[in-house]
Amino acid sequence: MDYASFFSISAQGSSRSVIREILKLTQRPEVISFAGGLPAPDTFPVELLDDIMSKVLKDRGRTALQYGTTEGDVRLRSQIKQWVATDGIDVSADQILVTNGSQQGLDLVSRVLLDPGDTVVVELPSYLGGLQAFRSYQAKMVGVEQDHEGMKMDRLAEQLQALRQKSIKPKFIYVVPDFQNPSGTTMDLGRRLRLLELAAEYDTLIVEDTPYRQLRFSGEDQPTLFSLDKEGRVVNLSTFSKLFCPGFRLAWAIAPPAIFDKMVMAKQSTDLCSAAFNQAVMAEYMIQERLAPQVSSIKQLYRRKCEVMLRMMDEHMPKDVEWTKPEGGLFLWVILPEGMDSMVMLEKYAIPREVAYVIGQAFHFDGSGTNTLRLTFSFPTVEQIEEGIKRFAAAIRDYRAAL
Ligand SMILES: Cc1ncc(COP(=O)(O)O)c(C=O)c1O
Repeated sequence: MDYASFFSISAQGSSRSVIREILKLTQRPEVISFAGGLPAPDTFPVELLDDIMSKVLKDRGRTALQYGTTEGDVRLRSQIKQWVATDGIDVSADQILVTNGSQQGLDLVSRVLLDPGDTVVVELPSYLGGLQAFRSYQAKMVGVEQDHEGMKMDRLAEQLQALRQKSIKPKFIYVVPDFQNPSGTTMDLGRRLRLLELAAEYDTLIVEDTPYRQLRFSGEDQPTLFSLDKEGRVVNLSTFSKLFCPGFRLAWAIAPPAIFDKMVMAKQSTDLCSAAFNQAVMAEYMIQERLAPQVSSIKQLYRRKCEVMLRMMDEHMPKDVEWTKPEGGLFLWVILPEGMDSMVMLEKYAIPREVAYVIGQAFHFDGSGTNTLRLTFSFPTVEQIEEGIKRFAAAIRDYRAAL
């Protein structure tokens, strides 16, 4: 049977990525993996959840196991409202849409804003799942380089101007302003304000994706774009995946009312509602005020792991290798000298030395960034970080000797 003629244009354009195939190699138990962007599993509140789930089943089992509303569980939305208020986001619970992970938020926002051929401005590098979502709606992407403080605003202005000269108005600018995935960088207040200014000047929207925002372990919080925005140009996506656990697949989107309504309708046709039981358990967890202590213990752990990784990098990296010094989140971004290719290094030198990372090219929609890569410090143990960075440094040396 030949299925090719049955596939939609969007499905025809999708293919399994080389990266996924390589990542399979990294799953061998002897490989120390800095690859997957996974939270530390020992932070998951397993025993506590056992109690809370029993309580939810006992107290409200008949509703918790029923279909819920598309917008999300009322108790959970009210808890999220209070949670975001502590972060300077003042919205009513009616403006909060519960989603199946922020990945669904990215899909919904794309679904309601993008037609084939529309333009989205993204960071170089940018979150792979975001790029995949935009690509699946056949968007064209325009990239803006980053430095150690995130997206460069002068480059953004140039790109927006260049688009205007071609009479192209991008539908939105996609940014991860806090401890970006993959680069670990954070935008300071000046850049945030400039970004909003440019969005207004070129009349476009901003999709602000903030999964790591609450995981700051040094430096000072910067306000969200959503809270700085006076014009209703920002959609904010946040998630419980890195604050609690990704297995619940619970996140939320906050959007201006007109966009919010369209996203609710899009969600309706996708899944009717997010899992009512998970939402009821999450609400109970928050009502019992468990989330804030959970987040602070995750931050302590990640601070320590990040410090160990940075110390090991200082001790073992050759002089001409650069890397970011994140103040939070899960990731460190490494820039190898020009001419080195992190894909070649992974296959020929890192995997044989039993250490893995994600190649930077995967996060560049235009295939650039061949000399870059991402290391995750949240998932490996401290001992694995110590040993893994030694192996990583040895892989760089092996590669260099062969050049
Ligand atoms: C920037 C960014 N956005 C969205 C997501 C999706 O998260 P989830 O769907 O688990 O909420 C991730 C996951 O790694 C991410 O890094």
